Amino acid sequence: MPSLAILHASQLVTLVGPARARYGKELGGLGIIPDGGLLAANGRITHIGKTPEIEKLCQRDTEVVDARGCAVLPGFVDAHTHLVFAGNRLEDFESRARGETYEQIAKRGGGIQTTVQATRAASEEDLFALAKGRASWFLKNGTTTIEAKSGYGLTLKDELKILRVIRRVGTETPLETVPTFLGAHAFPAEFRENHGGYISLIIDKMLPAIGEEKLAEYCDIFCEQNYFDVDDSRRILTAAKQHGLKLRMHVDQLTNSGGATLAADLAAITADHLEQTGADGISALAKAGVQPVLLPGSVYALGSKKYPKARQMIDAGLAVALATDFNPGSSPSASIPMMLSLAVTQMRMSPAEAITAATINAAASLGRIESIGSLEAGKLANFVIYNCDEYRELAYWFGVSLVRDVFVRGKRT
Ligand code: NIG
Ligand code: FE
Repeated sequence: MPSLAILHASQLVTLVGPARARYGKELGGLGIIPDGGLLAANGRITHIGKTPEIEKLCQRDTEVVDARGCAVLPGFVDAHTHLVFAGNRLEDFESRARGETYEQIAKRGGGIQTTVQATRAASEEDLFALAKGRASWFLKNGTTTIEAKSGYGLTLKDELKILRVIRRVGTETPLETVPTFLGAHAFPAEFRENHGGYISLIIDKMLPAIGEEKLAEYCDIFCEQNYFDVDDSRRILTAAKQHGLKLRMHVDQLTNSGGATLAADLAAITADHLEQTGADGISALAKAGVQPVLLPGSVYALGSKKYPKARQMIDAGLAVALATDFNPGSSPSASIPMMLSLAVTQMRMSPAEAITAATINAAASLGRIESIGSLEAGKLANFVIYNCDEYRELAYWFGVSLVRDVFVRGKRT
């Protein structure tokens, strides 16, 4: 395969730095090369530098892409999505506009249960076709890797069906997927009066099957009032670890139920949401080195005003990541640029901090620091050319796609 060169980027935003998540002030450093270029071969970056240096390395058959007037960034890494489901939640969307809350909708059997019914009724082929369409939304918005959770099946068969679809999206589309098991997303209707029965099903049947087929790398849980409490969460996640799964957790989204502290106790890799987390939770996460994954899209789309305390988290030395929470209920958006806008306008992060949170820090949270999240020799040639001069514009022009070209493993998608 001939090599590929990108030349004359107004900014090559490399995020070069230590091969680990970035903390505190480090989040502000993007490693920008003006008039930058990169060279890639066999799907990996071989060189980055100033355009004249890269030009010298080009060979006769090198494919050259002129990126004049464009910023070039690593593909975004979305560390929290619920990619696979059937149907939509347009009824909930409209009811919320009339004043009903997410919790009220869930109580009358709408919300997640609606999506579970539709997803159970769909075949693996149907779900794959839907997920493949959504994969193209992520790519078109500059995202090249996503974490994707199950959680709308809630039976052994349906959870496995979803996890297989997640795996197929990763192998049959250019979008890379990292699978997470979220059987503990809600108690399904048939276990409404028998929570213990559902927890046993997860521990005795689902986790062993998923561990054996290696269908997930992570286990997640919705730790929340009326969902899984702190004791349920501890039991399920302790069992998950025994099956070789690492932990990510939905915590303190709607109420502060001590979820952040539990994430710290269990040495989870990430604690996600954290809208209701206060100073105690933040310091517990900092002590335990748990990465927060902030999901401003769900705050925005639920019409809430209470965003997580990103500034305090960064100041406390946490390696903040930013993700879409793409799902049909609380965050129907596959756009990281939209999250950058929310991060800056609603959570007072700087544009540079937001970009670090959606690239290298997200990659670190997924155990992919060696291969993605920055533009450095040896990493995958996953990068995006944008129709703008500088990186801050990605957060600034909200609701507008500036994506010009998306490359995954050196190939234009
Ligand atoms: O992250 N909080 C739980 N899960 C999703 C919402 C899922 C849904 O409403 O379908 C979230 O916000
Ligand atoms: Fe979520």
